[in-house]
Amino acid sequence: MKHSLDEHAARFDEMAAEYDDEESDEYRACASLVVEHASARPGDTVLDLGTGTGAIALPLAETAERVVGRDISEGMLEEARAKAADRGLSTAEFGEGRFRDPAVPDDADVDVATTNFAMHHLGDAEKREAIEVIAELEPRRIVLGDVMLFGEADPSEPFYSPEVDDPATVGVLADAITDAGYALTAVERVHDQVGVLVAERVEPVGESVGPVGDSDDAAAEGES
Ligand SMILES: C[S@@+](CC[C@H](N)C(=O)[O-])C[C@H]1O[C@@H](n2cnc3c(N)ncnc32)[C@H](O)[C@@H]1O
Repeated sequence: MKHSLDEHAARFDEMAAEYDDEESDEYRACASLVVEHASARPGDTVLDLGTGTGAIALPLAETAERVVGRDISEGMLEEARAKAADRGLSTAEFGEGRFRDPAVPDDADVDVATTNFAMHHLGDAEKREAIEVIAELEPRRIVLGDVMLFGEADPSEPFYSPEVDDPATVGVLADAITDAGYALTAVERVHDQVGVLVAERVEPVGESVGPVGDSDDAAAEGES
């Protein structure tokens, strides 16, 4: 990570009031894909990490039973809370939490985890750790939209400012996701440096049940 959490939080506190005015077409496309792929169902609890002003959390809160939005910037969280109140959405709750410790409420059982345009602030090892933390919550689906490299990093292109960003290659993210017990089900390339990865939880293989058929029969067959 190129800046400390406090520095990132202060930077986002400062830009919180104007953050929603700065959206690019690619950012909007990425956010729409994250919401679409999250495909929240009634009854679902969604965890949205690096939730910012609620670009992902608020639309999902229209369908899901509960959306837990977590961020390190109180300024961004305040904007998200105000938007939820304006829209009359009581299904979204916003509070302090970070990738390393998302502070998921004890009574929340996460079905879907999302994050958009936030993980690229972490170094690659921290991204892997963040994905492991999310996987430990055992959501059925993880949707990760972010600055990610489909080719060579190009700071002259939008979305990658080397002084604050630390985007991973798609390969590094895909490896971290699959190592955490998830299967990639979709890769959406929005731009050479922006994409969305969708992953489903791989159910652990059950205990071996031994030979098919009645165990007494199997034992009897062994007798001769
Ligand atoms: C570019 S904004 C994206 C916000 C929102 N997800 C969206 O799509 O508009 C990145 C957000 O990530 C938050 N963030 C950065 N590092 C974080 C961390 N380690 N844990 C949680 N949030 C973090 C920032 O405070 C900021 O609100």
